[in-house]
Amino acid sequence: MQPMDPSQALAGKHLVLGLSGGIACYKAAELCRALVKAGATVQVLMTDAAAQFITPVTMQALSGRPVYTSQWDAREGNNMAHINLSRQAGAIVVAPASADFMAKLLHGGADELLSLMCLARPIDKVPLILAPAMNREMYGHPATQRNLTQLRSDGAHVLGVGAGEQACGEVGDGRMLEPEELLEELQAFFTPKRLAGERVLVTAGPTYEAIDPVRGITNLSSGKMGFAIAQAAWRAGAEVTLVAGPVSLATPRGVRRIDVRSAEQMWQAVQPCAEQASVFVATAAVADWRPVSAADQKIKKTEGGAAPALSFTENTDILASLARSERARSGQLYCVGFAAESQDLLAHAQAKRERKGVPLLVGNIGPQTFGLDDNALLLVDAHGCEELPRAPKLQLACRLIERIAQDLRKTSS
Ligand code: CTP
Repeated sequence: MQPMDPSQALAGKHLVLGLSGGIACYKAAELCRALVKAGATVQVLMTDAAAQFITPVTMQALSGRPVYTSQWDAREGNNMAHINLSRQAGAIVVAPASADFMAKLLHGGADELLSLMCLARPIDKVPLILAPAMNREMYGHPATQRNLTQLRSDGAHVLGVGAGEQACGEVGDGRMLEPEELLEELQAFFTPKRLAGERVLVTAGPTYEAIDPVRGITNLSSGKMGFAIAQAAWRAGAEVTLVAGPVSLATPRGVRRIDVRSAEQMWQAVQPCAEQASVFVATAAVADWRPVSAADQKIKKTEGGAAPALSFTENTDILASLARSERARSGQLYCVGFAAESQDLLAHAQAKRERKGVPLLVGNIGPQTFGLDDNALLLVDAHGCEELPRAPKLQLACRLIERIAQDLRKTSS
């Protein structure tokens, strides 16, 4: 049997997707498609207002199931769609949740199928997730804000909103989150919170050591593994800071990102964060050396002239320095190193783990992973090693996070 993929928390889940009326209904179509692709089954419910914006036909085609729009739906043997649908659901997701619909929920209104089903759901078993969508004035109105607060304390999981240009032409807060943001929120919602209360610091990507204003030394690290680890840690409930070298990757949802360029800047950014962190994962391919001094102006080639002689000085070893710190030695900061090797992975990884003074070191073969979306890892600790066979980086990152959570539990017990 295939082991479960912890990065696919939605696989096998049954979701009820409710649409209330709003222009953001068009995003619900994309969300429905993404949920199905992520392995969930989706039962769509629409209010009459939602059906003004997008047709049930579209949602039926995308979900592969007839859409429910009325509490008088004769397809249900007992004519109790609100009971039957809510009992089958792993969660009810209302996206878009209009201001009016949320006001109705708040008062326990139940005059059409969607609100009726929300009220009838077994409150302890079936989570209610709301994705608000409305004009910025409506969103900022004290009535709406009061309703959001009350809905939260009534047990609903209310998602944030996006900011930007709105369909009405105004600019501000209140847009529904984009389908991929909603998908990520839902993946996180169903991921066990193994790192709740932890503060995770991750370094990622290459560094760039300037030679002059237009040239420098860098390496082939894409940053993908480190970004995936930050994403997996956030999904697992941690507060995550990602210190990233020069890469062109989107910031994972929920993650605080600090961009740096050189190894020295990375070290400066990491130190204050490490004072607060409980886990440090060093995935960055930090340059071991930098030119002693970068030229102020571009170094020019002269006819028949000699190549410039560069001399180098060593950069701070961020991982080794933090592993030696008081917080790491007293068990307050759990350090995880990475090793990108080209051969003899186990021997190099074991030696590097001891040299860096970390409890866990993750080895990988650099040329077989740089820039790719998948990887294979070897986790080495004082007792032995564990192989994580080739898989997408996010899947490996989720497994690594599970392993780190396990190690944290061991050290604290
Ligand atoms: N690292 C770091 N700061 C540095 C260099 C490395 O934090 N200045 C971290 C990396 O993020 C990684 C680990 O140390 O987690 C391994 O780095 P690597 O450069 O491969 O190790 P070295 O000790 O330089 O060994 P090698 O001889 O293979 O270069």
